[in-house]
Amino acid sequence: MTTFWSLWIIVITVGTLVGCAAILYWCVRDKMGVEDGADMGHEYDGIRELNNPLPKWWTYLFVGTFIFAAIYLAMYPGLGNFKGFLGWQSSDQTVRSVEESKASIAAAQSSKSLVQYAKELDDAETYFGEAFNRLAKNADGSGLRPIPEIAADSEAIKVGQRLFLQNCSQCHGSDARGQKGFPNLTDDAWLYGGEPEAIVTTIMDGRIGQMPAWKDALGEDGVREVVSYTLSLSGRKVNAREAEAGKARFVVCAACHGTDGKGNPAVGAPDLTDQNWLFGDSRAEVTETVMNGRSGVMPAWKDILGEEKVQLVSAYVWSLSNSEK
Ligand code: HEC
Ligand code: HEC
Repeated sequence: MTTFWSLWIIVITVGTLVGCAAILYWCVRDKMGVEDGADMGHEYDGIRELNNPLPKWWTYLFVGTFIFAAIYLAMYPGLGNFKGFLGWQSSDQTVRSVEESKASIAAAQSSKSLVQYAKELDDAETYFGEAFNRLAKNADGSGLRPIPEIAADSEAIKVGQRLFLQNCSQCHGSDARGQKGFPNLTDDAWLYGGEPEAIVTTIMDGRIGQMPAWKDALGEDGVREVVSYTLSLSGRKVNAREAEAGKARFVVCAACHGTDGKGNPAVGAPDLTDQNWLFGDSRAEVTETVMNGRSGVMPAWKDILGEEKVQLVSAYVWSLSNSEK
């Protein structure tokens, strides 16, 4: 922190405290030239203002806060470059340059003294890691339990649900029913397959949907025709002549969506013959998809959650469409 900002903070902080102390001192001392209890001549809805002294308990409490502030500032100053008696410095928290910031993060991480988050993560790992392992692994510790077995274990599935709520619900919804662009995980329609292995792969490594844009290749008329054909695949009423022309154009789509339009989990191409629409079912939305393409991104969780937690959350996801009920 530069000397200017350091002084700036010191002046504002100390100035505010001194100012408040001065006001308090003045209120305690100054009788405004009238006796205690005298009428000050102000009246509000029949309530008159008297010149009463500040209550003692309140004054002492106020003085107490100054003493607290003085001790606190001496220990954790927050006063620019002054380090305080505990060696804490507010300027450690500001980003000066990217290199400096990286170096201070690395130093803090290796000493585990400053980065509270890293410390909490570590503590949580020691504290809960064992529980995650117990629920995700076979009793003899030899590798991960199969997904259907975890799904039948009510304690493990509860933990899986918690992990889902913390990490996945912002995109897939807290009920996992998804929203536009974010797939519903509770139904039987899968972009990448709903078998336990496919779900685990999706969550561990992430997925990127790659639906190309066809505006340039097909032109507006071409897109209109192929959209009509696409809509007809799920039983929608469309202009028959357009759909017929679109059917001939669909060969370029078949590479991913299949000749019958039923999709291909290997590339995450959705089934176009069902009533499930990831990006909306209106003609305008489907046209937008075909004109400009889509690229949904599912993040990879391998490095964030680790394979035990991924196994638990996968079991939860799998259970949503495979429960006995
Ligand atoms: C940043 C948003 C986001 C978050 C967070 C997220 N996802 Fe996804 N997820 C997506 C998107 C987008 C897709 C669809 C990818 C595509 O369009 O190809 C997807 C796809 C999936 C699929 C594949 C669905 C199918 O039909 O094959 C599964 C399973 C899944 N997510 C589970 C999870 C789990 C479990 C978590 C939490 C650990 C999670 N997701 C967190 C955005 C997210
Ligand atoms: C290279 C492979 C590929 C080709 C070729 C392709 N698609 Fe796609 N399409 C995809 C993928 C992958 C998605 C899912 C995108 C995502 O999840 O982000 C998709 C999504 C769609 C959707 C959205 C479905 C929904 O549920 O909202 C429509 C409609 C569609 N494609 C139609 C077409 C049409 C029509 C053509 C031919 C003109 C075509 N696609 C060609 C891969 C392809």
